Amino acid sequence: MNNFRFNVRTDVRFGKGSISALPELVEKYGGKNVLLVYGGGSIRKNGIYDSIKELLSDKKVYELSGIEPNPDIEKVREGAAICKENKIDCVLAVGGGSVIDSSKVIAAAANYDGDAWTLVENSSEIGRVLPVIAVLTMAATGSEMNKNAVISDKKNNKKLGTSSLDFIPYAAICDPEYLYSLPPVQTAAGTADIMSHVFEQYFRKDTGAYISDSIAEAILKTCIKYCPVALKDPKNYEARANLMWASTLALNSLISCGKAGAWSAHPIEHELSAFYDVTHGVGLAIVTPSWMRYVMNEENVKQFSAYGRNVWGISEPDDKKCAAMAIDKTQQFFKDCGIPTTLSEIGIDDTKIDIMAEAAVKNNNLDSAFVPLKKEDVAAILRNCL
Ligand code: NZQ
Ligand code: ZN
Repeated sequence: MNNFRFNVRTDVRFGKGSISALPELVEKYGGKNVLLVYGGGSIRKNGIYDSIKELLSDKKVYELSGIEPNPDIEKVREGAAICKENKIDCVLAVGGGSVIDSSKVIAAAANYDGDAWTLVENSSEIGRVLPVIAVLTMAATGSEMNKNAVISDKKNNKKLGTSSLDFIPYAAICDPEYLYSLPPVQTAAGTADIMSHVFEQYFRKDTGAYISDSIAEAILKTCIKYCPVALKDPKNYEARANLMWASTLALNSLISCGKAGAWSAHPIEHELSAFYDVTHGVGLAIVTPSWMRYVMNEENVKQFSAYGRNVWGISEPDDKKCAAMAIDKTQQFFKDCGIPTTLSEIGIDDTKIDIMAEAAVKNNNLDSAFVPLKKEDVAAILRNCL
């Protein structure tokens, strides 16, 4: 097992009714002036907005709404300007990954004299960051307890990740009932995202980090068990609660403890989102099985067969056959959850594959991925998704 640093400060309040802790948390980590950041309106429809306004009635609450999926840098600039003008003490992100990620960069840009995009391109420019408090409404990214933010510059077809330990939210309110209003496609896409986060950290050079791998397998099994339940019965508390906690644990550094390496499917998907504004989890569900089939080789086949046996319960003794069955099952699972499994189904053809492949290699460290990938490899993985 490699040496590691595990540094997570988030005060997580999990469970139904946990929003009642909001005043205490804002008092403790924030202050009088709060910037409330949210998306396109789901929190107004499901009542979360009203509860928050009531709970924070003694605070000065400024608002930034309209954060879109694959959030754009323009909104971050807008949020930073509000913070600077109004001496904001903390940023309250109410939504999914797009809202929380935007809030993190707003919180950094609030104390930065240059343009916010520089903080996305160059994380070493990130200085003092205002406290971020997250109220989670979507189980997917783990942003509520991690150091990452992914922001797009839609005008220039760019989508990049940045990170800082100071981005880690001070507190996260995770109420599984908030997931009841999710459209099925977001429930399914969110689950594909959680599973992909696990794959990115599980399929790494084997360093004997058995404990991390075992936790990873438990998270995958949780997704496989509960996503179909949540799709069939959207108000099933047990299913929503398990998926919500799975999303947090999948990407709060826990399962990469003792395992180094760069990611593979995410860098490829980020280019699909940058060029076609694809829903992140949908792009991952399409790319992941293709990536798995492409990178599986003599050296790593045992890791794929272990995945098949421990997660899917496949009893096939031959490693190669078991591994191939596990990949097929992964793809079929996404399909059964109602997610498109080919690029053509979402209207993407061959036209930009080479440009996306080049950008994926340029913007990421694919040389140190599980199996190193060059531009030609990424293009082949994408072509196999057509
Ligand atoms: O905007 P509203 O109206 O709120 O609707 C949102 C949005 O349309 C809707 N939604 C969220 N909660 C809802 C709801 N609708 C009804 N009821 C609710 N309770 O869902 C849609 C998608 O929201 P979004 O925040 O975009 O989803 P997600 O959480 O999947 O975030 C995706 C973004 O996070 C980035 C992705 O690349 C993408 O930009 N990622 C962030 C990561 C991180 N910070 O660590 C890692 C990930 O790998 C990922 O890259
Ligand atoms: Zn993701």
